[in-house]
Amino acid sequence: MLVCSCNFITDKDIQETIIGLLDEDCWQLIVPAKVYHAMEKRGRCCGCFPNVVDIIIRTTEQYHAARHSTDDQIFDFMTRLKHFHEENRRADLERRHKSHRAA
Ligand code: FES
Repeated sequence: MLVCSCNFITDKDIQETIIGLLDEDCWQLIVPAKVYHAMEKRGRCCGCFPNVVDIIIRTTEQYHAARHSTDDQIFDFMTRLKHFHEENRRADLERRHKSHRAA
């Protein structure tokens, strides 16, 4: 399924890149910009980023479930990852709201 129409990136491309990043360091926090950088792409309109965040969370959860990570490690990491992305979404909305008011 096409996720990013600006760069013609599919969900499979994104999942494979995330798995590659997790193979390098399975506890790193992955953000859409890191995924796109690894694919040598960049966000243009960035309208796909919320979907990319969902794919990051889902793929990371599946990655750890299939490995020897303990439930406590997975729960702690996924809590941090979801919190991190929620904070980013909130900051992004505030930035948009401020720039809308300034215009
Ligand atoms: S849809 Fe992905 S950058 Fe525009």
